Amino acid sequence: MPARTKRPAAVVLEGLGGYVPAGTVTNLDLEGRLETSDAWIRSRTGIHSRRFAAPGEATSDMAAEAASRALASAGYPEIDLVILATTTPDHPCPATAPAVASRLGLGPVAAFDLAAVCSGFVYALAQANAAVLSGQHRRVLVIGADTFSAIVNPLDRNTAIIFGDGAGAVVVGAGEEGQPGQLSAFDLHSDGSCTDLIRVAAGGSRMPVNAETSDADRYFSMQGKEVFVQAVTAMAESSRSVLQESGWQHGDVDWLIAHQANQRILNQVAGLLGIDPRKAVIHLDRVGNTSAASIPLALADHAPRFETGDKLLLTAFGGGTTWGAGTLTWPPIAVADPQQAVNERTKPWPTPQPS
Ligand code: UT7
Repeated sequence: MPARTKRPAAVVLEGLGGYVPAGTVTNLDLEGRLETSDAWIRSRTGIHSRRFAAPGEATSDMAAEAASRALASAGYPEIDLVILATTTPDHPCPATAPAVASRLGLGPVAAFDLAAVCSGFVYALAQANAAVLSGQHRRVLVIGADTFSAIVNPLDRNTAIIFGDGAGAVVVGAGEEGQPGQLSAFDLHSDGSCTDLIRVAAGGSRMPVNAETSDADRYFSMQGKEVFVQAVTAMAESSRSVLQESGWQHGDVDWLIAHQANQRILNQVAGLLGIDPRKAVIHLDRVGNTSAASIPLALADHAPRFETGDKLLLTAFGGGTTWGAGTLTWPPIAVADPQQAVNERTKPWPTPQPS
């Protein structure tokens, strides 16, 4: 761990990258194995297709690719902490973040996984912000990456139509008050009494996987209707809280980047906040719900539309239940298209930077 540094005035976004795997699964592909239809999925969720990791492609592979793009976007600065938000680590033990850090050649940096399901990226960004503001760390690589194709039951039409795989990452570091890219306010919450709404029942200490474990216990499950209702209310409330703390009116928000679960949820959150739904960025139509990756992927996908100084409102809701929101302004950074294939990468893996 680096020596504690002077507490900075602010924390700013310095780089952003995203990665989606090449395998596309369309609604029509799902019609073949599920009792569903392209028309139903489009009208009830807004999703047209999603991406699935290739066989053998794990969360760390996607995380490292997105992170390498974020590091390139930031100009390969020195990193001293890696936080990986994920529900689908490569293995139950150990954490996946150290493997990603080593793969990127970052040296013996602090690295840990953070589990807050679809709220994971907002949670991780808030922790990175606090870590830099405290002076404990200088620059943090925050990654949201998930491989839900590994835990979703391909025959469950409640979940298989929604989820896809992907990764997104940002670099945040010390900056000046008012500098474009500044992270302003965060608001985080949980309600463990609703733990059954979204879960994988087996595989932990409560229900270890054994010969008696059923498919239903092993796979991800979600009570979609109840989650929908809670997600809308919670994201709107949390958003109001960070808007107030940032001193922003709803009309000041240039872009609403809400967790990409369902277009109807995004429209309702925007409506409750009095934000023009056209300011709610949509990426789910092409990648589905990518859980912890959804917010940084949506940011990377829409980055060409953002202008320096634009006011961004982030908000998410996920299993736990967990939810939260954050505000930032947009920095002058270059961001690669997350659809760019691995073999189109222009730079090799970054090499460790001298300290
Ligand atoms: O990422 C964490 C946060 N997650 C979310 O925010 C997800 C929130 N939930 C949702 O997005 C929605 O609840 C779903 C997309 C999961 C389901 O949509 P819904 O509009 O809530 O559907 P429903 O469960 O209320 O079902 C409505 C009807 C039912 O038929 P009847 O009883 O009205 O005849 C279902 O059987 O739609 C039927 N249905 C389907 N039909 C075709 C449910 N799923 C499907 C399907 N294809 N995939």
